[in-house]
Amino acid sequence: MASSATIETATAGFLDAVLYEGEESRGLQGLTRATLLAPLSTAFDLAEGRPAGHAQRVAYIGVALAEELGLSTAEVSETFFACLLHDAGMAALGASHVRNRADDDLMPPTGGWGDVIRALTVHCDQGDRIARRLGFGENVATAVARHHDCWDGSGPSGQNGNGQMPTVARIVAAADRFECIIDSEPSPLVVRKRGPSLVRDMSGSEVDPEVATRLARLAAKDSFWLGFYDRDMTIGLMSMGAGDALSTDGVLELLAAMSDIVDSRNSRELGRGRRVSELAVKVALACGLSERRAELVRAAALLQDIGTLAVPASVLSKPDILTLDEMMQMQKHPAIARNIVGEIPGMGAVAWWVGCHHERVDGKGYPGMLEGDSVPIEAQVIGIAEAYEALTNNRPYRRALARDDAAEVLRGLADTRFHATVIRRLEEVVSTLA
Ligand SMILES: [Fe+2]
Ligand SMILES: [Fe+2]
Ligand SMILES: [Fe+2]
Repeated sequence: MASSATIETATAGFLDAVLYEGEESRGLQGLTRATLLAPLSTAFDLAEGRPAGHAQRVAYIGVALAEELGLSTAEVSETFFACLLHDAGMAALGASHVRNRADDDLMPPTGGWGDVIRALTVHCDQGDRIARRLGFGENVATAVARHHDCWDGSGPSGQNGNGQMPTVARIVAAADRFECIIDSEPSPLVVRKRGPSLVRDMSGSEVDPEVATRLARLAAKDSFWLGFYDRDMTIGLMSMGAGDALSTDGVLELLAAMSDIVDSRNSRELGRGRRVSELAVKVALACGLSERRAELVRAAALLQDIGTLAVPASVLSKPDILTLDEMMQMQKHPAIARNIVGEIPGMGAVAWWVGCHHERVDGKGYPGMLEGDSVPIEAQVIGIAEAYEALTNNRPYRRALARDDAAEVLRGLADTRFHATVIRRLEEVVSTLA
């Protein structure tokens, strides 16, 4: 029987050393909410069917505007996070509320504009809850909840026109609307030329005239546009609203909240991602990985399906067999997740494992068709924890399997889907569970 040490050595030999540089000793240290959420906000864009980077560009505009308006450091930071999270609620919506823009030009046309308004209302409401679950306070949550309201306070959040729209919310709303206008114009030169007048056109019923005036002033500056079109915007944003580094528990709790969003989008029982990550850590340790490495495996398990946010909700919840096209959309999710997670400093290895969680040791997995020891042990651990969790819970098409039956199913996948040793380690772990 191959020992776990044998597997680790063989696997480590495959991996690009650059991905591992310093990861073992660093673990999840030094990460802030900004370094995590600036890259992860891309998942919210994709869930809305927008080009990646919408939330980041809104944050860039929002922060510039908040500073132009002379807001306090704390308010600038609140603006930054509210902008990054403004459409997070979209990611939590299932097919009944939204169809991706990949399907249609606008949001859900099936039920007419009534559905559009409902989707706006629900995603604002969900975004409010997500912001609080991610640990943000009242000001950030309220700004997220009201980013589609008009400046007089009327709008989908259900507030009446009482003129009491908070300042941060007014900025987020203006920044979001302005970014959408910019996004619809392909030429940066045209945007640069017409920017100030486009902003002035927004002034009035939708956007606070004072905010619009300041934004028009910003839009007349070359320095604003140079920053806006900077390819390294993500890195620049990470240093904004940075705050103190989170504890390891704080990082993992934030990632767990992200996995709750993925559960919700996939119509899975809430908390499933957290359970999979718990099991993955136990199996990782049983495979002989260090505590630090197991911690990174936990992070990878929590983020493994974040790429499914980019898959149309209608495909994720389809009760039928997927068409070839839908299958291809679905199979992009590990690579999408790898690209998003890879933007987080120090998470290169985590990104790699996430990208490999649907690889198979027989070379028939995706996206890379890696074979044998080329499939990282950590990716197999994540995959087997997910598979066991799926087998032992009810599904619409079958009842939950008992532990022994699930183990037998997994044994049947030895040296095809998973390395036989990984399956044995999983069996050892689950035999000790109540
Ligand atoms: Fe929105
Ligand atoms: Fe938006
Ligand atoms: Fe997956």
